[in-house]
Amino acid sequence: MHAFVAGHPINHSKSPLIHGTWLKRHGIEGSYRAVDVAPQDFEDFIVKLKSPSSEFVGGNITIPHKENAFALADEVDETADYIGAANTLWRENGRLKATNTDAYGFAANLDEKSTGWQNLETAVVYGAGGASRAVIVALVQRGFRNVHVLNRTMERAQGLADRFGAAVQAHPLGALDELLQGAGLFVNTTSLGLEGETVPQIDFSGMRQGALVTDIVYVPLKTAFLQQAEEQGIKTADGLGMLLHQAVPGFEKWFGVRPVVDSELRNIVESAM
Ligand code: ATR
Repeated sequence: MHAFVAGHPINHSKSPLIHGTWLKRHGIEGSYRAVDVAPQDFEDFIVKLKSPSSEFVGGNITIPHKENAFALADEVDETADYIGAANTLWRENGRLKATNTDAYGFAANLDEKSTGWQNLETAVVYGAGGASRAVIVALVQRGFRNVHVLNRTMERAQGLADRFGAAVQAHPLGALDELLQGAGLFVNTTSLGLEGETVPQIDFSGMRQGALVTDIVYVPLKTAFLQQAEEQGIKTADGLGMLLHQAVPGFEKWFGVRPVVDSELRNIVESAM
């Protein structure tokens, strides 16, 4: 059994390390490898994958192919449909099926780090790009009734609010301080978490008791958002766990074993960062 991660570029992907660790751990005779697929070759790659004679049973899809994978699959599930992008593909009954495991990964990471996080009620999501969609799906699926999405480009936030209904409201970035008052969860989904970016000074101190601040960026592990929250005495959860957990459903589909995210895996991936 062979699986892949397809992207362009692909050399920085941590997925081969994650799946390789699990393959070894479970003694599975299979492989998981990175495949660099240029945009003009992606459709052809999918056509070949649909054939039962393909060497692959399925794989992961990453930047810049997630929307195309969603469009080219024979069948997508509800989560992928909400997000409008797919990151996990597999063949089943002669059809190429697709899902998006980012929403699952986000929620599973918080389940691991902060029991009861889904009862924090009000969430503030910073950013309205592709990653934000997955976070919002997870929040709505976990019962959040008040999800405030803030974005530099207001139309993108509004687009998400329109798509997700009454639970999701759009705001300009300037509304942040006010929205954080009494909020339970803050999620950064923008690239501002990345090393070297300038992050605004944020006052998290008015968040409710038990509040949690998390970032989907994991390089660095402690982003400037998390650093500020910690300095203000607010609990934080880093984003590496989302990367690890989002890999679980794919591995189970392709190799038939549900793998576990544990400290050994985390250490292996962290040391490779
Ligand atoms: P991803 O798929 O990783 O979410 P994306 O779709 O390009 O990537 O979205 C990037 C997000 O970071 C967007 O919310 C973007 O805001 P805009 O929609 O206004 O572009 C946000 N972002 C990136 N750079 C930013 C900056 N300097 N200040 C504020 N927001 C920024």
